[in-house]
Amino acid sequence: MILVTGAAGGPQGATGRQVVDLLLERGERVRAFVRSDDHRAEELRKIGAEVVVGDLREITTVRPAMRGVRRAYFTYPVTAGLLDATAAFAAAAREEGVERVVEVSQLDASPMAGTPRMRRHWLSEQVFDWAGVGAVHLRAGVFFENLAVVAAASGNRELALPLGGKDTLIPLVAAADVARVGAGLLLDSGPADPVCLVNGQMATIGEVAEAFGIPYVDVPPEEWEARAMDIYQDPYAVEHLTHLWGIFRFIGSGHHPLYGVTESIKDIGGRPPVTLREFAAGR
Ligand SMILES: NC(=O)c1ccc[n+]([C@@H]2O[C@H](COP(=O)([O-])OP(=O)(O)OC[C@H]3O[C@@H](n4cnc5c(N)ncnc54)[C@H](OP(=O)(O)O)[C@@H]3O)[C@@H](O)[C@H]2O)c1
Repeated sequence: MILVTGAAGGPQGATGRQVVDLLLERGERVRAFVRSDDHRAEELRKIGAEVVVGDLREITTVRPAMRGVRRAYFTYPVTAGLLDATAAFAAAAREEGVERVVEVSQLDASPMAGTPRMRRHWLSEQVFDWAGVGAVHLRAGVFFENLAVVAAASGNRELALPLGGKDTLIPLVAAADVARVGAGLLLDSGPADPVCLVNGQMATIGEVAEAFGIPYVDVPPEEWEARAMDIYQDPYAVEHLTHLWGIFRFIGSGHHPLYGVTESIKDIGGRPPVTLREFAAGR
C-alpha cells in the first residue's frame, strides 16, 4: 500500500493527484489522503484509490492513514503548517516502519536559503532524515504552473512579476515531471540518494512570457506584495514568493550553482522534461 498526500490536487501543481494516477496505472494499491470529502475525493474512489480524509497537521488522522503502508508521498502546499505536518507524518511513518518517504521540497532547501519557506523545507528534510524512513527529498525548481497562476490572475493579458529585466533566468519544471520522478522513486525498490534535484529547463522570464503569448511586465518589488495578496490571499505564500522573486531578480542573467537541467526526470521519471513550449501549448 502506498500512501499519497495532496491526492486531491490543488492550485500549485497537483503533484499528489498526478502521483496517484501514475501509481494506479502501474497496478499499485494507493491510499489517497485528502483534506475534504468532496467531488475530488469521489473521483479518486472511482479510479480505484482508497480515500482517507484528514488534516496532515493532526497526528490523530495521519497515524491511522499510515497503517499497513510501506511507501509514502508527502507534499504540503506553500502555506503555514509545513513543520507540524512533517512532524506528524514522520512520526507516524517511523512508528509504522515505512521504508521510503518521497517528499516535495524546493531547489535550494538549506539553512541559509533566501526565503523562510525554503529554510523550513530544509528543517522538514532534517526531520524526515532523523525519522529513519528512507526519505528522498525532491528539490524542485519553480513549477511552470506557478507562473501560469500569475498570468491567469491578469486574465492572461500579461505576466507581471518583480523580476527586473526580461533576461532574468528562472529554473523551471513541470509539476508533471516532479510527479513522475516521485512515482518512479516510490516504485523503485533499489537504493536512492536522499536528495534528488528536479529541474526541467532554464528559461528567462521573457521567454516564459513569449511562450505564454503575453508581454512580461516588471513590477517594482514594493508594488508586488500588494498585488500578490490579491492573487494568493495568504501572507505566508506572499512572503515566500516575494523573497523568491527577489533572489532571481538579484541573480538576473548570471549563474547560480543550482541552475541547470537535471538528469533525474529522464533517468527516474522515464521521459525527457516537459518543455516550456509544451506546457504553454497545453494551457
Ligand atoms: N509551486 C512551485 O513553484 C513549487 C516549486 C518547488 C517546490 N514546490 C513545492 O511543491 C509543494 C506543493 O505542490 P503540490 O503540487 O502538492 O500543491 P497543490 O497542487 O496546491 O496541492 C496541495 C494539496 O494539499 C492538500 N492540503 C493542504 N493542506 C492540507 C492539510 N492541512 N491536510 C491535508 N491536505 C492538505 C490540498 O487539499 P485542498 O485542495 O483540499 O486544500 C491539496 O490537495 C510544496 O511543498 C512546495 O514548496 C512548489
